[in-house]
Amino acid sequence: MKNPVSRTLLALSVSIFALGNYPSPAASDVTAINVDADSFGCIRDMEPVRHFYVDNLLGDTAGTLAAANAPEGAPYPVGSVVQLVPTEAMVKREQGFSPATNDWEFFELQVSEDGTTIGTRGFAEVNNRFGGNCFACHLPARDPWDFICESDHGCEPIPIDRKMTGALQRSDPRCGPAELQDGDSMALWKLRAMAAIGAAQAWFKSFF
Ligand code: HEC
Repeated sequence: MKNPVSRTLLALSVSIFALGNYPSPAASDVTAINVDADSFGCIRDMEPVRHFYVDNLLGDTAGTLAAANAPEGAPYPVGSVVQLVPTEAMVKREQGFSPATNDWEFFELQVSEDGTTIGTRGFAEVNNRFGGNCFACHLPARDPWDFICESDHGCEPIPIDRKMTGALQRSDPRCGPAELQDGDSMALWKLRAMAAIGAAQAWFKSFF
């Protein structure tokens, strides 16, 4: 919240929420959602869907869950937040905000016991730390999955498996003590080893 524009937008969205209403169409031309570090928290406080988590910053969690569970895919409603690992998130912004990404904003986050800070954020131009472009990788899943990759929506696979993403979710430092399951310590150890020796080093490091 360092620049005056963000402050204005914050003030605007605070006043919208203070009225106890969701933004009117007129207000959403300006901004309907203020997304800042406080929009993100313990990943396990979100709603679990299969192996990932969803939420909705405008309260429409039911709409987000319906899209995530639509067997043939569906557009996610405005305000949707989707996370597979604590350090990466997609947020569905106001309609028309970014046609190329179907209004998804991509976030790379830093997380610790103290909370969340936003590393990078943006639309088609956002890369993760190893230079992989969020948008380019997720693009094959555009239709009808609204950019959600999972394992069979056409995206290039990522080199970490569900055991590893599960272990990262269960050890999100913002949630308090880790709730590790059998095999999680080994999965985290493997991830750290890949971070130490892997070709995509910086990327693996970004998970810690
Ligand atoms: C190398 C390609 C690649 C890059 C780069 C990439 N992703 Fe993904 N992402 C995937 C794949 C594949 C999955 C599904 C993994 C699974 O379900 O096991 C995924 C899953 C996700 C999910 C969970 C929902 C879903 O699509 O299944 C989110 C949220 C996400 N990525 C956000 C991001 C963000 C934000 C960035 C950039 C900071 C990013 N991703 C960069 C390929 C990529």
